[in-house]
Amino acid sequence: MKQIGVVGAGTMGLGIAQVAAQFERVLVYESIESVRFKAQQSLSTKLNMLVEKGKISPSSKDEILTHIHWCKDLSEMKHCDLIIEAIREDLQIKKDLFSTLSDIISEKCILATNTSSLSITGLAASVPQPDKFIGIHFFNPAPMMQLVEIIPALQTDPSIINLVSELLRKWGKITVIAKDTPGFIVNKIARPYYSEALRIYDEGIAQMGEIDFAMTTLGGFRMGPFRLMDFIGHDVNYAVTEIVWSENYFEPRFKPSITQKKLVEAGFLGDKNGKGFYASANKNENSTLNTEIKSIHIEIFHRIVVMLINEAADTLYYGIASANDIETAMTKGVNYPKGLLNWANELGISFCVETMDKLYDFYKEDRYRCSPLLSNMYKSGEIFYV
Ligand SMILES: NC(=O)c1ccc[n+]([C@@H]2O[C@H](COP(=O)([O-])OP(=O)(O)OC[C@H]3O[C@@H](n4cnc5c(N)ncnc54)[C@H](O)[C@@H]3O)[C@@H](O)[C@H]2O)c1
Repeated sequence: MKQIGVVGAGTMGLGIAQVAAQFERVLVYESIESVRFKAQQSLSTKLNMLVEKGKISPSSKDEILTHIHWCKDLSEMKHCDLIIEAIREDLQIKKDLFSTLSDIISEKCILATNTSSLSITGLAASVPQPDKFIGIHFFNPAPMMQLVEIIPALQTDPSIINLVSELLRKWGKITVIAKDTPGFIVNKIARPYYSEALRIYDEGIAQMGEIDFAMTTLGGFRMGPFRLMDFIGHDVNYAVTEIVWSENYFEPRFKPSITQKKLVEAGFLGDKNGKGFYASANKNENSTLNTEIKSIHIEIFHRIVVMLINEAADTLYYGIASANDIETAMTKGVNYPKGLLNWANELGISFCVETMDKLYDFYKEDRYRCSPLLSNMYKSGEIFYV
């Protein structure tokens, strides 16, 4: 591809432009002057830091900067082969942008959205060439995170999926393909890591430090759920949960926690303003002071990891992604220590089914129903092939 367009130079747009500019000429359009100014400053600072740390050479820095052209008007994007939109998460604003772009671009141009939660199919339906529309979901920070989820709309021509996958691989990314469903792969499967931890905490079964201890020590997760929610930001984490829940027709498995909602309402957003589950934003604060593993920790770890496995199995059952892509997405997108399907094999499919069934029998809530895939595998003695 000769020319890439990026619309929006906020957190994601700027990161995507930096990734693409290592390889292609990139046209960046930012409609808000103050955001553009900040983006230009921040790009230079980031690139200088990378040079200082020896991560890129001074000549690569210069190459990236010369590859980036800041557009004054969207019409300058008329010769782009691919335009990636990374503006505010608002359906109407995005639709308006795609409508404007559609009047500018050539017939061969691919339009892509970096949306985290809106329907790719719905957005595709708003453009004249929906077959050339696709979701390209980068993770934050885009230059550091290897994973990119590619989400074809119902209308997307399969050749576009291949073109985009090849391009992203050239940019050094690992790609997975997800069906257009709320949360795609990572943001859907990861929900129980937060919500089941909150549920255990809300029920008074354990304190947050105990839950974090269980998940880091027994599970090998880099951060416990409460530490991680503080790090992500409660506004962001809560919003994703609420969208995945409501967009899945209020599926009980994704039900948000009132405890987290209260944090958001109070403006306790986590590390970004030093208020959250843990009082300070000190990343070195030891949230897992325990040293002794007790049976309650084992119970907590099994409950959360099996809920994650159940979600991964359901994602496979409904054909949202392949088994390999599910494993790649969770290990590369959110740095899980193991793929969840492999983890299911290790723990035993029977153990996973029994854990889900015990929760379901006790709570009598749909939230704890076992994925039909796991139940079928239990009956037939199968394991996951990944
Ligand atoms: N931040 C993340 O972790 C993350 C990860 C993956 C995807 N995303 C998605 O990427 C997109 C951008 O998110 P972000 O985190 O970069 O946001 P941001 O707040 O950093 O940037 C928002 C961008 O939207 C533009 N914008 C705001 N109001 C606008 C308007 N009325 N018209 C046109 N442009 C407007 C801003 O100028 C800026 O370029 C969203 O769709 C978001 O869901 C975010």
